[in-house]
Amino acid sequence: MPENGTKVAIVTGASRGIGAAIAERMAGDGFTVVINYASRVDEAEALAARIRQNGGQALTVRADISDAAAVGRLFDAAEAAFGGVDVLVNNAGIMRLALLAEVDDALVDSHIAVNLKGVINTLREGSRRLRSGGRIINLSSSVVGLYQPTYAVYAATKAGVEAMTHVLSRELRGRNITVNAVAPGPTATALFLDGKPQEVIDHLSRLAPLGRIGQPRDIAATVSFLAGPDGAWINGQVLRANGGLI
Ligand SMILES: NC(=O)c1ccc[n+]([C@@H]2O[C@H](COP(=O)([O-])OP(=O)(O)OC[C@H]3O[C@@H](n4cnc5c(N)ncnc54)[C@H](OP(=O)(O)O)[C@@H]3O)[C@@H](O)[C@H]2O)c1
Repeated sequence: MPENGTKVAIVTGASRGIGAAIAERMAGDGFTVVINYASRVDEAEALAARIRQNGGQALTVRADISDAAAVGRLFDAAEAAFGGVDVLVNNAGIMRLALLAEVDDALVDSHIAVNLKGVINTLREGSRRLRSGGRIINLSSSVVGLYQPTYAVYAATKAGVEAMTHVLSRELRGRNITVNAVAPGPTATALFLDGKPQEVIDHLSRLAPLGRIGQPRDIAATVSFLAGPDGAWINGQVLRANGGLI
């Protein structure tokens, strides 16, 4: 642990959206956060500056999670700066929607590269390097249970993430590390909102009994619970955070 005794958390895909909210929330909870991103350096640096202004500790590290060597360097950078890693939040992900009949190879390859291979890369590195008492939290999606047309490839990658969550929680027996997944419903980020007509967003907002779509802070609060002391006894579970949608 770093000198001040705080725990160190890597949050992948934290330059915007849910990942940025998770990094900010965890910094507020007292974690030292490593803000991983793929391309949006300005957003990542602005988030790190905001965290530091509020008295927290943050480091930004560019790494495409689909590149195993880059993921190794991400962990190296975290260990060099802070002495070790306690929490891995596998948040980075992409989503493009298409009917299976119309799915192109680029859509398939990019989803497998980022949402599956990327998570395999970070889980492999994390399971080798996380310290005792660690937590791994993978972002799945409630669409795994919804079976909506156009979501097949994306939902398949998230089903894979859920499967790996269960398997790794068992593989880490004896290490005192929990592995869980959080599966949000529709959440107000660019990934969900971009390209959707307002009437589709309004329709989806009415589906959950709580009558709205999620905000990034709703998901950050769920991750914070699993990463913090009150989540210690939860292991190998998928927690759907969606206002009751499914
Ligand atoms: N929003 C929803 O409705 C919803 C619902 C269920 C589940 N989720 C899941 O929640 C997670 C976050 O989604 P979001 O809505 O916050 O998405 P977002 O706003 O599009 O943000 C995605 C983040 O992932 C990063 N990223 C993308 N590809 C990457 C790569 N190859 N390597 C490293 N970082 C990469 C992006 O970095 P750069 O910007 O720097 O490229 C960005 O910071 C995803 O796993 C998503 O599947 C979202």
